[in-house]
Amino acid sequence: MKSKLLNIVLFIFLSFFFLDLTAQQTMTNVYGRRSISLNGKWNAIIDHYNQGRGNKIYLNKKPANKIDFYEYSFENGLRLNVPSDWNSQQPELQYYEGTIWYARSFDVSKRSSDRIFLYFGAVNYRCHIYLNGEEIGSHEGGFTPFQIEVTDRVKAQGNFLAIEVNNTRTVDAIPAMAFDWWNYGGITRDVFLLSTPPVFIEDYFVQLDKYKSNKINAQVKLSEASANARVTIEIPELKIKETLKTDNKGAISTSFTVPKLQRWSPDAPKLYQVSITSDKDTIQEQIGFRNIWVDGEDIYLNDRPIFLKSISFHEEIAQRKGRAFSESDAVMLLSEAKALGCNMIRLAHYPQNEYTVRLAEKMGFLLWEEIPIWQGIDFTNESTKQKAGNMIADMIMRDKNRCALAFWGVANETQPSEPRNVFLDYLIARCQEIDTTRLITAAFDLIRFDANRQEFIMNDPFIKKLDVVAVNKYMGWYHPWPISPEKAVWDVAKGQPLIISEFGGEALYGKRGDADVVSSWSEDYQATLYKANLEMFRHVPNLRGVSPWVLFDFRSPFRLHPTNQDGWNRKGLVSDQGYRKEAWYLMKDYYDHIH
Ligand code: GCU
Repeated sequence: MKSKLLNIVLFIFLSFFFLDLTAQQTMTNVYGRRSISLNGKWNAIIDHYNQGRGNKIYLNKKPANKIDFYEYSFENGLRLNVPSDWNSQQPELQYYEGTIWYARSFDVSKRSSDRIFLYFGAVNYRCHIYLNGEEIGSHEGGFTPFQIEVTDRVKAQGNFLAIEVNNTRTVDAIPAMAFDWWNYGGITRDVFLLSTPPVFIEDYFVQLDKYKSNKINAQVKLSEASANARVTIEIPELKIKETLKTDNKGAISTSFTVPKLQRWSPDAPKLYQVSITSDKDTIQEQIGFRNIWVDGEDIYLNDRPIFLKSISFHEEIAQRKGRAFSESDAVMLLSEAKALGCNMIRLAHYPQNEYTVRLAEKMGFLLWEEIPIWQGIDFTNESTKQKAGNMIADMIMRDKNRCALAFWGVANETQPSEPRNVFLDYLIARCQEIDTTRLITAAFDLIRFDANRQEFIMNDPFIKKLDVVAVNKYMGWYHPWPISPEKAVWDVAKGQPLIISEFGGEALYGKRGDADVVSSWSEDYQATLYKANLEMFRHVPNLRGVSPWVLFDFRSPFRLHPTNQDGWNRKGLVSDQGYRKEAWYLMKDYYDHIH
């Protein structure tokens, strides 16, 4: 009995002793802050058998005498670009799953009172951060940002930063063991050193009321929970300027009535200059204001029903066979969606980088953003559920000021079960803790053809929890037609708006003929499939949007056919080399004429 009590006391002592090493939630709008970029070539070590941590290679030791020796060095070896995935940088890393260490040195010139934070846009999939020989943090999740305060740990010269990155798939991860995209590992987005005053503007949320077109709600939170600090919110073009005092949590909350407001829309993506100022800090950004809600089977944007002309793309530049991560990458991906005539993007299947989200808003796209709850998630695992909750909260905290964000997606192709329902209920609750203005949706692949009724139906009571129901249905590809498209009758999600969140089929660019042969992988068959699906969609009474899968061919370990696929999912409307297939023109015509 005594030893058990002793163990409990020891556990409590140790848990207090070891600092919480998980990384912090990031401050809002890092791109509007004082920052130094740590992007560029970093030194790297491939650590396939995970020897580095045990050998403390993050100490970056050098032999000090004739008998010292170290079986590692970060200098004169592998060099990797940051940001980027490692798979696309070295042929031997194309399929690599395991640990790679990144390291670099940096200097810091800071004002004496400044606070310094290390910021990562994303690291896939998990990482440990070491600064000047000490572990200072860790993070799990390949698509959301994180930060670690290093104010008291940095020195003026020669700070040594080492990041231990591992992209090995595990059953308790999000995504889990198998997913239809490339498992790009590495420091895949921007790395900054952020500097702030001692008390800074940590978070803010400035958005139009969900239902009122003349009411802007604004919350601001300072980094210090103290009362009576002054915060000023200005929107000059709307003649708004208000100064308030914080409460004892360091927060203010207010609303403004604005009679003359030009609401954001895809056709007129109006953004307003917003500035927030506290005693020692100020931050600016462009914010749009719009209303979006559901009434019956319709989705209303700014008081008018809208039909969503959507498309999906992965965060990938096909010609580079690698992750997209820069502003120019975002320009390329979004320009092709604009050329297709889209007013919405479903950012599959994970939060994409902030350049894409911000540019999509400027170019006039509504956005659907989701975390990778993609088939095979361990819904019975409590820690997986917590991880998913934190991941979706981090996504919303990062993008909640983007009015282009219209949908939070909580799942893709999950099977009905009580654990799944509990898991998704939790995700919806985490979303709505932060934001109650967006529409909650999820994509299902549960539609089946009922031969007795001769109708397409779907049975998953969970859809009643959603604002908008989305379905992935590959008629003519994974499923032969049970009825001719013009005779198709759908009884799916009646009384709710329905989006076709995925449909399509594969085609190898340039392959022609065999317009009625699925296994031809021809552009002609893909066009046949698109024509048939677009005809069927005409008969879906509550259809309020379509989103073909997918804009670009993308890399996937699922795709094993040596000539037709060769490790590519060929459902793109645009080939991996950037050529538009025949189906692209069919979709363009459909979007030009649908209202
Ligand atoms: C699924 C899934 C996609 C996948 C697609 C396909 O619906 O959501 O991520 O790529 O089907 O099979 O191509």
